[in-house]
Amino acid sequence: MTIARAGARRARSRCCGSRCGGVGADVSNGRRDRLPVQVPTLYSGGMSAHVTPETAETSKDLADARGRAVEDAPPVVLTLQQRAAMLGATQFLGVPLEHFESGGREQLTYLLRAGLNPHSKVCDVGCGVLRAGYWLIHFLDAGCYCGIEPHTARVRMGLETILEQDVRQAKRPRFDANATFDASVFRERFDFFLAYSIWTHASKRQIRLMLDSFLRCSTDDAVFLTTFLPASWRFQDYDGDEWRGTSHESNVPGCIRHRLAWIKAECARRDLLALPLGRDTSHDQYWLEIRRRATAPARKRRYPYWLRRVIGSAIPGAIGVPETF
Ligand SMILES: C[S@@+](CC[C@H](N)C(=O)[O-])C[C@H]1O[C@@H](n2cnc3c(N)ncnc32)[C@H](O)[C@@H]1O
Repeated sequence: MTIARAGARRARSRCCGSRCGGVGADVSNGRRDRLPVQVPTLYSGGMSAHVTPETAETSKDLADARGRAVEDAPPVVLTLQQRAAMLGATQFLGVPLEHFESGGREQLTYLLRAGLNPHSKVCDVGCGVLRAGYWLIHFLDAGCYCGIEPHTARVRMGLETILEQDVRQAKRPRFDANATFDASVFRERFDFFLAYSIWTHASKRQIRLMLDSFLRCSTDDAVFLTTFLPASWRFQDYDGDEWRGTSHESNVPGCIRHRLAWIKAECARRDLLALPLGRDTSHDQYWLEIRRRATAPARKRRYPYWLRRVIGSAIPGAIGVPETF
């Protein structure tokens, strides 16, 4: 594989796989996927077993009952990754199939590191087919998970095929289809906002709406975990006004970038602090942890490694290199 091709593959993986950035978009058979779509389900058995092969009185009943006997066999239990693959075989899920299971789980680990508890209230902005929602709904207490997703067919796929029905009933996740990132519809004060692979498609106007929604609808010490792709001299900063990528309104793939300095400035205007957490392993996206300045934990000042080395070696008898000073 050439370096250019490998780079293109990495870039696709950072966002939405083959549908993103216009690179390698799946337009096979000359069509892109249509919305909404038929949702296959693992749980829609609905068999009535009143006539069995033993009690059948006519040859037609016997044939029907024999057919049902096969259908009545215990359902095959598929893994989460297999369920996603089954859905993804006929339509685009909004995210790559590759790392579907581990990528969702990795989102949960970022929330856990930021202090997620079972009783935390979480708003998953652009929850899609519940890639992270699956894990969050399992982990959180009943009524604590809320998702905003205007592409309602995606939520339906998540609820009917990704999430188990008994878990859905026990945990009572809530959803809203507004396209303005408005979390007030749930009448909650959230402890966490999550927006994974949302700022990789959202315009600056939409990011401002999300930050305002966070300020309005979260507790004083709430955390907003989000990912983005940084603009630089190599990658253009997005100055369009619209969502770029697939959504309830578009089948056209796309992926955009924002300058970290711009994000920090928008946070500062709202008395929020944005702390970069580095890149994840699933899709190489850059994580940010955003909190109110007043409740953000004091950050140790970290000096560059070369400066710590110089000072460490200049102090006679110094053992090792101090991490911070
Ligand atoms: C790249 S997917 C990420 C889905 C999910 N966060 C995940 O990690 O699996 C982006 C999602 O944002 C949704 N979206 C698009 N416009 C939106 C809007 N205005 N408000 C909320 N979500 C939107 C899309 O429909 C899509 O499901």
